[in-house]
Amino acid sequence: MQRLRGQGGWVPFSTYMQWALHDPEHGAYGSGRLRVGPRGDFATSPSLGPDFAALLAPQVAQWLQGQPQAEPLSLVETGPGEGSLALQLAEALASQWPALAARTELVLVEPNPGMAERQRLQLAACPLPCRWQTLQQLAEAPVRGVLLAHEVLDALAVERVVWDGEQWARQGVELLEPTDGVFELRLSAAGPLPEVLVAQLAALGLVQPGPQREAGWTTELHPGLAPWLAQAGAALVAGQLLVVDYALEAWRYYAPQRANGTLMAYRQQRASSDPLLEPGHWDLTAHLCLDSLEAAAAASGWEPLGQRRQGEALLALGLAQRLHGLQQQDPAQLPQLLSRREALLRLVDPTTLGDFRWLAFSRGLVEQPTSLFLQDPPLS
Ligand SMILES: C[S@@+](CC[C@H](N)C(=O)[O-])C[C@H]1O[C@@H](n2cnc3c(N)ncnc32)[C@H](O)[C@@H]1O
Repeated sequence: MQRLRGQGGWVPFSTYMQWALHDPEHGAYGSGRLRVGPRGDFATSPSLGPDFAALLAPQVAQWLQGQPQAEPLSLVETGPGEGSLALQLAEALASQWPALAARTELVLVEPNPGMAERQRLQLAACPLPCRWQTLQQLAEAPVRGVLLAHEVLDALAVERVVWDGEQWARQGVELLEPTDGVFELRLSAAGPLPEVLVAQLAALGLVQPGPQREAGWTTELHPGLAPWLAQAGAALVAGQLLVVDYALEAWRYYAPQRANGTLMAYRQQRASSDPLLEPGHWDLTAHLCLDSLEAAAAASGWEPLGQRRQGEALLALGLAQRLHGLQQQDPAQLPQLLSRREALLRLVDPTTLGDFRWLAFSRGLVEQPTSLFLQDPPLS
């Protein structure tokens, strides 16, 4: 509240989101307060168990194997959360592709000290050498390998813009002075828009959004995406980037009927569309716009390899066979087998995690193997 007051009682939504998530003392991630997992604040695919990493590992290994022999390699995970995906992938490489693992390091990119602390504990016994770096540090000595961004780009601070029927305004968060001793926050719009946002609206064909969008129509723009992709590009001399996140095509994201964008808040397995609840205690997340992501990736020299919905990608990587294989396991393990079965089905559920998008890009590679997850699933 004091910080908001120090800014004159109003900040753009992106500033509020940055503070609420990433402030090292008060932010939900910065403080390490948020817990990822089915018993934490929200579940992600890797947090449901080891099968997600086991299915992804052959894809990572295939990409790493495509690099020139004898070059040192890096598996970089940005936004590693609890560190479980990084650990499970490192273990899979070490046990199934030992020669590859012998020349591969793990690099964790985590700006939030509270999260990095938990990752260090989780990775204490990691079979690969580990280091924590920023993308800027990596850019000073770029690496070869694979860069993963699983549910991290949705945590970049978004701008919210409001169409008032005649013009655009930037949505912000306003501090209401107390009448009865209690401070309150509210969303309120103020113009004009900075150039960077006008340019993004122009790229989406939304400078004049037309008569179908009523006054008050609100959406999100992603000014952090292009700088992030440029930094990621500078960090990787050659290799692949895999982005996994909720994402929508621009025509769905910015459809007239989607009048309040995609912003959501999560805490203790509850979801809310109110981003102002208990700042610093809720995860705030907005979907990605596929068209904006692809355009920003191209502008930073990333070549598109292809994209799939998670359900299709995991089936191509062998999820159905894995599910079938559970039947051959020891029945004495029934409770564990049932929970793995449930997790596998959740990963491909088209109404939730199965609808996530997997987008792959590459840079600096002469030869490009067809990616496993872009192939059709084998018939079983
Ligand atoms: C939603 S969690 C996802 C965690 C994990 N990838 C998973 O899927 O279980 C977002 C993670 O990204 C981190 N993060 C947020 N902004 C980031 C940024 N700009 N660069 C790297 N990591 C970031 C957060 O601290 C957190 O670890």
